[in-house]
Order: sequence, then C-alpha cells, then structure tokens
Amino acid sequence: MERIDPKTLHLSGEFAEQNLGTTVGADGGVTVRIIATQFMFVPRCIAVPRGRPVTLRFATPDVIHGLLITGTNVNTMVVPGFVAQVYTTFTSTGDLLMPCHEYCGLGHSDMWATVQTVPESEFKPDRDGRVSCAQR
Ligand code: CUA
Repeated sequence: MERIDPKTLHLSGEFAEQNLGTTVGADGGVTVRIIATQFMFVPRCIAVPRGRPVTLRFATPDVIHGLLITGTNVNTMVVPGFVAQVYTTFTSTGDLLMPCHEYCGLGHSDMWATVQTVPESEFKPDRDGRVSCAQR
C-alpha cells in the first residue's frame, strides 16, 4: 500500500490540481490521477484510449469512497491516507459511468464521473502529455 497525506495531497505532488486527469509518459504509458472527494470526482471526466493498458490512481482528502467503472473490471475502495491503484485495458469505445459505490455522505448518489474511451486515432496528448475529454 502506498501512503499519502490526505491533508496535503491536493497542494503538491502527484495529486495537485495540475497533475490530475490523464497523462501519457515518455514511454507511452497512460496514467490517470483522480481525487475522490465529497461529493465529486476531480476531474469529472477522464479520457482513456481503447486497447492500451491504463493505470488509474485515486486518492481522497476526506472520507472513504469506492468506485467502479461500468462494463469493466475496475472496482476499488479509496481510503484516506492511501493511494488506490488499478490497472485495466478498455476494450470498447464510448462513455462509461464511474459512480461512487461506498456511502460517503448526503451527496453520495450525486458522486460520479464519466470515462470517455476513445480509439487510438483520437487519443492525442498535448505538448505536456495531457489528454482531456472531448467537448460534446
Ligand atoms: Cu463518494 Cu459515495
């Protein structure tokens, strides 16, 4: 288990705001960093490629959350103080829902994100290696 300080995770380091979302490394590896917080995921939408391994990393500054991505094997808890890491390869394109599935407070049922799965031809990192959701 990787530890992370829930009080400062959004201030600096890999879960600072500018590092959230999808990043493509120099080796082509795709990593997505997401904060789960009462009552939203940040960012609310992530873009991922179809057919390439993706590493998803989650952390929370407040309480225990859980998440799954519909139609995939992604299903994990996000516990304060730890990084939750999941590997998957998305096999189809389209928008998938990523709801919180652990009761985390009154806004729990409003807590969900969108996973935009796109073909490789549409998965274009910018100069910084970042990929954002297409506006639709
Ligand atoms: Cu977060 Cu339920």
